[in-house]
Amino acid sequence: MVVPSTFLPAILFLSCFICLYPDLAIAKHAATGVTRHYKFNIRMHNVTRLCGTKSIITVNGKFPGPRIIAREGDRLVIKVVNHVPYNISIHWHGIRQLRSGWADGPAYITQCPIQTGQSYVYNYTIIGQTGTLWYHAHVSWIRSTLYGPIVILPRRNTSYPFVKPYKEVPIMFGEWWKADTEAVINQALQTGAGPNNSDAYTFNGLPGPLYNCSTPKETFRLNVKPGKTYMLRLINAALNDELFFKITNHTFTVVDADASYVKPFETDTIYITPGQTSNVLLKTKNLTSNARFLMAARPYSTAASGTFDNTTVVGVLEYNRNTMQFSNTSIKNLPLPPLPAINATSYVANWTNKFRSLGPVVNVPQTVQNRYFFTVGLGNDLCPKNQTCQGPNGTKFAASVNNISFSLPTTALLQARFFGKSNSIFSTNFPTSPLHPFNYTGPPPNNTFVSHGTKVVVLPYNTTVELVMQGTTIFGAENHPLHLHGFNFYVVGQGTGNFNSTTDPANFNLVDPVERNTVGVPSGGWVAVRFRADNPGVWFMHCHIEIHLSWGLRMAWAVMDGKLPNQKLPPPPSDLPKC
Ligand code: C2O
Repeated sequence: MVVPSTFLPAILFLSCFICLYPDLAIAKHAATGVTRHYKFNIRMHNVTRLCGTKSIITVNGKFPGPRIIAREGDRLVIKVVNHVPYNISIHWHGIRQLRSGWADGPAYITQCPIQTGQSYVYNYTIIGQTGTLWYHAHVSWIRSTLYGPIVILPRRNTSYPFVKPYKEVPIMFGEWWKADTEAVINQALQTGAGPNNSDAYTFNGLPGPLYNCSTPKETFRLNVKPGKTYMLRLINAALNDELFFKITNHTFTVVDADASYVKPFETDTIYITPGQTSNVLLKTKNLTSNARFLMAARPYSTAASGTFDNTTVVGVLEYNRNTMQFSNTSIKNLPLPPLPAINATSYVANWTNKFRSLGPVVNVPQTVQNRYFFTVGLGNDLCPKNQTCQGPNGTKFAASVNNISFSLPTTALLQARFFGKSNSIFSTNFPTSPLHPFNYTGPPPNNTFVSHGTKVVVLPYNTTVELVMQGTTIFGAENHPLHLHGFNFYVVGQGTGNFNSTTDPANFNLVDPVERNTVGVPSGGWVAVRFRADNPGVWFMHCHIEIHLSWGLRMAWAVMDGKLPNQKLPPPPSDLPKC
């Protein structure tokens, strides 16, 4: 084959790229981007942590899963083959999925899960997003081990709006469970009690030396050179915990949130909820010695009901190819960076306030066509007859949006909608505000029982939405990281106590609000977001704390097609899994 010499560097680059990332093959160039093919074999794989070996669900035998790398504008074609005895479905968390809702992934919302021995090809294009996102299983608690980073680079010949990093390093925060997490959630739903806790937090799957029986290999080590800028791509993949993160004697510059640029700001402590991602710059010191510094993460929690994993994960920042002996004792003797108190709610409120879009911000909805007020929080269910329950006062824990605990249907909502079978599967009367208003942040009402249903909100195409989410204090005030599929929203306001619809909107930021896909509804407070319903489909919205999701803190938006052909959801791919 004769290859024009101008292509040679590109071909050399690509072949070397493929040898570095064997899960990736690049097929064809399009006018705007390339198509990148991945194959995800979902397999059981033995992993040893903290003196225990466990068979876990992985992508291609890797934990965390392999990195997906693409540029903005590229198309991803990912074949997922299920070789494990569990239903599988994968969500590409934060990808907008413009008119590709069939590839979004939440089980029973946009697709039925992929059954054992079956496969499904997720096919979508990344449009208008640069930064870090991630993928995770979206059925039951399978995501406890099935997750990995999505790295989205700027288009070719464009650059970051900040100093070019010397190196980019994904750091995924996770939880390690000695128990089988499917057994944990099944037992919790059966007894009505809060679930058991994880045994450790992890950096890229590694718990580190503060945990009993951790070997030196189980510690995350980041080797750095002095005087360079590193970009950490932070992802909170923990099931149930919001985290603080800090490195001794170092500061960060936050430049991005959920794959949108923000006005850079300095901080020494990161706060990140499950589902959130953030790129932060770490400028290393001018050190010629082999210095080592601890990096640490531990949870933020105000939960009054139930316990949580209150341990600390540490890893090591090592300067100059550190050859000093690496033992757990030498690491444990390093000073721990001082993290905020576990219940540091004011730190969290200040933190959320620091985020502003980098801009120019052009599409914050200035007028609102559809206005919603949702309560989010816990509640309970009666204990079934002839059973004893271990939730509040012998009942079962539940969680809800506007007091509706969302029941998953047995066939996917998007299929039901597309094929006109909606009536038997879901109803369109999700309340726009609570049916029985109460003092949401005061003493709990007498009746805390939730109702159940599969109800959605219907949004006409391209209309604007304002959604105020109000936390409740039933069974304790907690921060709820709400995640919306298929959109980014602008976070236009937040506050403590009850939202006041007369006075609070005057303080909304409609100039440079941060754009993200996951925002914490503050513990004992509220948050207001706006977005434009420009993506036809059925879009899940839920708390990204997995136990709250399981208890029903979830709902869906059905966004209608527009009139023009390019405003409609195309028909489903032929391999869409059947229930
Ligand atoms: Cu990252 Cu519906 O979730």
